Amino acid sequence: MDFFEVIEKRYSVRGYKDEPVKKEDLDKILKAAALAPTAKNVQPIKVFVIDTNKNKEALKAIYPASWFYNAPLVLCVAVDYDSAGKRSGDNRNFADIDGSIVMDNIILAATALNLGTCYIGAFNPDAAKDFINSDNYTPLLFTPLGYIDADPRVQDKKSVDEIVEYL
Ligand SMILES: Cc1cc2nc3c(=O)[nH]c(=O)nc-3n(C[C@H](O)[C@H](O)[C@H](O)COP(=O)(O)O)c2cc1C
Repeated sequence: MDFFEVIEKRYSVRGYKDEPVKKEDLDKILKAAALAPTAKNVQPIKVFVIDTNKNKEALKAIYPASWFYNAPLVLCVAVDYDSAGKRSGDNRNFADIDGSIVMDNIILAATALNLGTCYIGAFNPDAAKDFINSDNYTPLLFTPLGYIDADPRVQDKKSVDEIVEYL
């Protein structure tokens, strides 16, 4: 699929078929995650691949929407704030940006493979931290991953003119 078709096609999918994700598709998506840029190339990220059948109760506590915990897989991008690149001058920590780019690569790769996703930021952070159970890695974003069983995009977008300013 052409890159711009992928951009047009992606939307937040809130309904999934009860059909496993093909291993070769998952591998391509994880490769896209590994190729994402990160500040100073520190790569302070981990991607957790969560089997929803084995982890349903934990996932319900993390984000209680049935389309989330009933998708075949859920992916979590977690970041290590200590090792992440920081901006000299004001020490701005780039971990959240790094992790967001990783999740974006995952989501665009999934879209190109006709798989649905949805950025999930409004999860329960304590439940997520307990589940991931890592001293170093803090959950940043989740997404369900699976074949789409949902209506197409509903959200309007601002026009280019509204968001762009030429200086
Ligand atoms: C950082 C971030 C966090 C989000 N968190 C959630 C969430 O917790 N639950 C949810 O249903 N959608 C979540 N979304 C999806 C947005 O609601 C969605 O992207 C927006 O409404 C635009 O719709 P579209 O993705 O279909 O273009 C999140 C999106 C982003 C970028």
